[in-house]
Amino acid sequence: MDLWAEFSRSAKLSGIGVSEIIRIGAEARKLAETHQDVISLSAGEPDFPTPDNVKLAGINAILTNQTRYTALDGTAELKAAIRRKLKRENGLDYAANEISIGAGAKQVLFNILMATLDPGDEVIVPSPCWTTYLDMIRLAGGTATMVPCSAEAGFRLSPKQLTAALTSRTRWLLLNSPSNPTGAVYGAAHLAALAEVLRTAPGVGVISDEIYEHVLYDSAPFATMAAICPDIRPRVVIVNGVSKAYSMTGWRVGYAAAAPDIIAAMAVVQSQSSSNPCSISQVAAIEALDGPQDIITERRDAFRRRRDRIVAGLNAIPHVHCLLPDGAFYAFADMRTLLARPELKRKDIADDTALCRYFLHECHVASVPGFCFGGPGYLRLSFAASDRMIDDALERMKAGVERLLKY
Ligand SMILES: Cc1ncc(COP(=O)(O)O)c(C=O)c1O
Repeated sequence: MDLWAEFSRSAKLSGIGVSEIIRIGAEARKLAETHQDVISLSAGEPDFPTPDNVKLAGINAILTNQTRYTALDGTAELKAAIRRKLKRENGLDYAANEISIGAGAKQVLFNILMATLDPGDEVIVPSPCWTTYLDMIRLAGGTATMVPCSAEAGFRLSPKQLTAALTSRTRWLLLNSPSNPTGAVYGAAHLAALAEVLRTAPGVGVISDEIYEHVLYDSAPFATMAAICPDIRPRVVIVNGVSKAYSMTGWRVGYAAAAPDIIAAMAVVQSQSSSNPCSISQVAAIEALDGPQDIITERRDAFRRRRDRIVAGLNAIPHVHCLLPDGAFYAFADMRTLLARPELKRKDIADDTALCRYFLHECHVASVPGFCFGGPGYLRLSFAASDRMIDDALERMKAGVERLLKY
């Protein structure tokens, strides 16, 4: 038998593909090979470079031969820097055996789910949500319970919705604040109200994805359940990393802070998959966390200006509605009124995927369809792009919509 002619994927992978965001990004790059004017607003990463002090720390790590395997779930030095960060910024004390470091927050999330889910275990995921959560939960053998959170509710899960979603099989509530794709932020009072419900469900933990902690436009300080509700803290796993705050997406360093048992279980998963995160990146991450922090405010101010620009521009496009996100760098634009127009139906543009394709191929603007995030009828546009790119993209999208509405 020719094994490769017979090749089929494992059952584990059924229904799981490469993330739609990566696929659209690749399609945009392919189009850009023949059309130089393609504007990509589909990627989820800051367009700023990694700060120079961090780059130099990485170079120095190479020159000083810090290029070998490190401790499995991160060096003692980086764990210490993460503990300092959690104390300084979040008022939280964690011990070294309560920290796990992986190749990005993504790997850390994967480790948590692999280490804790059994078949049939449920994870409550307020949606719209980052697409990856759902596939990761499935790969880990669990079931995602998506709870739709409307724009009217600020795309946030209410205590009532949480109560209704809990079952005897619920293992985790997965919160992401600020949220990708909606920019929704959970304030302290809201988290306290959710914690009130969790007190009635002692077996349920909270995975708190805080990767956009520093991309926050609200005047209120960033809130994390672990700090707000000390009694709930033992069941909270904080997930964070250096990717978004320090423009270090390619360096791949993320971390978790949690009870020692969870951290030890995560180390087993990492031990049998990737082993330690890159030694050089770990040294650079120490510099990011311990070095000057002005860059965070400077870049957040730039993102705020771009946010205001893109949201105003989107709302100036006929039949498009977009709320001002409180955090992260995505505009989540409601295209449902536009998609309901007979002119679009006649042109076979019936959903967000078709509209996304139209904008990519006819206007050369790449976005991501909302259905990928559990928000059909929406488009996600990243504003981690220059003012010029944002203005050009908006101009082209507006003209594109006007063309669609013509006859
Ligand atoms: C909500 C959310 N969590 C986690 C990640 C992963 O971040 P990292 O680059 O650290 O793996 C992303 C990246 O896009 C994200 O949007």
